[in-house]
Amino acid sequence: MADHSYDYDVLIIGAGPGGYVAAIRAAQLGLKTACVESRATLGGTCLNVGCIPSKALLHGSELFDEAAGGHFATWGITATPTLDLGKMMAEKTKAVGELTGGIEFLFKKNKVTWLKGHAAFEDAHTVNVGGEKVTAKDIVIATGSSVTPLPGVTVDNAGKRIVDSTGALELDEVPEHLVVIGGGVIGLELGSVWRRLGAKVTVVEFLDQLLPGLDGDVRKEAGKIFKKQGMNMMLGHKVTGAKVDGKTVTLTIEKAAGGDEQTLEASHVLVAIGRRPNTEGLALDKAGLTVNARGQVEIDHDFRTAVPNIWGIGDVVPGPMLAHKAEDEGIAVAENIAGLTGIVNHDVIPNVVYTAPEIAGVGITEEQAKERGLSVNIGKFPMMANSRAKANRDTDGFVKVIADAETDRVLGVWIIASLAGSMIAEACVAMEFGATSEDIAYTCHAHPTHAEALKEAAMAVTGKPIHM
Ligand code: FAD
Ligand code: NAI
Repeated sequence: MADHSYDYDVLIIGAGPGGYVAAIRAAQLGLKTACVESRATLGGTCLNVGCIPSKALLHGSELFDEAAGGHFATWGITATPTLDLGKMMAEKTKAVGELTGGIEFLFKKNKVTWLKGHAAFEDAHTVNVGGEKVTAKDIVIATGSSVTPLPGVTVDNAGKRIVDSTGALELDEVPEHLVVIGGGVIGLELGSVWRRLGAKVTVVEFLDQLLPGLDGDVRKEAGKIFKKQGMNMMLGHKVTGAKVDGKTVTLTIEKAAGGDEQTLEASHVLVAIGRRPNTEGLALDKAGLTVNARGQVEIDHDFRTAVPNIWGIGDVVPGPMLAHKAEDEGIAVAENIAGLTGIVNHDVIPNVVYTAPEIAGVGITEEQAKERGLSVNIGKFPMMANSRAKANRDTDGFVKVIADAETDRVLGVWIIASLAGSMIAEACVAMEFGATSEDIAYTCHAHPTHAEALKEAAMAVTGKPIHM
C-alpha cells in the first residue's frame, strides 16, 4: 500500500543489473517505484560498457580467429578473412542499444519512473536529483563500481593510447602491441579480443598466476593455454609508470617485489587492475552512512544497511562484482522491502571468464578447502577424453569436482572447456539442491555432449570414471 507521506515507496539509485532488476521487481510487487540513473541509457556498467559489449566483441573476434587460422583450417576450409573493424564495432553497439532500450521498455511496462540525473542523499528518506528533492520510504543503493586507477598510468579513453575497459571496447584500430596491466578477467577477455584481431598482446600481472580467486589447477591450465595462443605473460611484475609520445607508450616495469626496472614499448595500454565501489558524490554521511575500508557499503543478510530504510546491492556492497549476483540481490531486496523473504545463496554464485576456452567455477576452490581444514575428495576429467570435444577437435581443459569426503556433498566445480560457461549451470542447480557427486554421476547426460565430462568428473570423485 502506498505511503502518501513520501513521493515513492521505493527509490533505487542506479539502473545497472542490480538496480533495474530491483526496480522492476518492486513495481511487480505493487510498490510505487522510481530509479535514478545518471547515464544516458539504462542497464549500468553491464549493458553499456561491460558484459554485453565485451561478449559481443568476444563473439565477433572469435569468428574472425576461427576463420583466420583456427578451426576452419582444421576442417579443411580455406579462408582469408578481412576485418571491417567499424562494422564489428557497429554490430556491438547495435546489441547494446537493443538491450538498453529493452530495459527502458520494461520500465514503462512495469510503471517504474526513471529519474534522470545524479542522486545525492539529503537525509535518510530524501535524495537530490538534479536540484529536485525526491522522497521515498525505502531507498536502495545500487550505484555499482568503476575502474580502479593505477598511479603513474593515466587513463585517457579519448586519446585512445592508455585506456580502461571502456576505452578498450571502442578502439578504432587493431593495436600493434597491446600491453594489458592486470591478468584478471577483463585483461584476459579484452586481451583475447585484440589478440584474435591481430594485436601482439603482453599481459603484465602482479601475482605469480593469472585470475586470482579461481581454483589453482584452473589458473595453471589457463596460463598454459593463453601462452599457447600467443599471449606474452609477464607474471610477478608491476607497471610503475607510463609516458605517451605520439603513437608510442613507454612503460616502466619492475618485479612485483621491487627492483629490476625495465621499459616496454606499446602502441596501446589497457589498465585492468580491478574495480572499486561508486559512492563518491552520494553524500552517504547525510543519510547517516559510512563505507568500510574497501569503500563498500556494508549490509546485513537481508541487504539492509546500518540505516534501517536504506538497502544496498550489487558491486557497491561486499561480494563478487558480477552482474548475476547483482540481479539476484535486486530481486531479493525488493522482496524484503515488500515484506516477503528475499534470499540469495552466496555460496552458489557462478563465475565465468568468456575466453576460448571458457573458464567457469562455482563454490569453493581446492585451496579454500585446505584453508578451511575440510577433508575433500576430488574428481577430474579431461576434455581430451570427452567424445564430443574430441569430435569437435576442441579438447583443451578439464572438469574438476570437489566433494566433501564424509558426506559426498559437492562443494565446488571448476571447468575449463569451450562451453564451460553453459556447463556450469548444471553444477549450480545440483549444488543449490545439495547434490552429492553420486547424484551427478547417476544422472543421465545426453551423448555426445560436453556435459558428460561433468558426469565423468563426478564419477571420478569415487575413482570410477568410464572413459579414462
Ligand atoms: P552497475 O552496473 O555499475 O550500475 C550502476 C549504475 O548506477 C551505473 O549505471 C551508474 O551510472 C549509476 N550511478 C552510480 N552512482 C549514481 C548516482 N549517484 N546517481 C545516479 N546514478 C548513479 N559481470 C558478469 O557477471 N559477467 C560478465 O560477463 C561481465 N563482464 C564485464 C565486462 C566488463 C568490461 C566490465 C567492466 C564488467 C563486467 N562484469 C561482468 C561486471 C558487471 O558489469 C557488474 O558486476 C555489474 O554491472 C554490477 O551491477 P550493479 O547494478 O551493481 O552496478
Ligand atoms: P580482477 O580483479 O579480475 O583482476 C585484476 C588483476 O590485476 C589481478 O590479477 C591483480 O593481481 C592484478 N593487478 C593489480 N594491481 C596490479 C598492478 N599494479 N600491476 C599488475 N597487475 C596488477 O579485475 P578486472 O579484470 O579489472 O575486473 C574487475 C571485475 O569486473 C572482476 O573482478 C569481475 O568481478 C568483473 N568482471 C567480470 C567478468 C565476467 O564475469 N566474465 C568480465 C569482466 C569483468
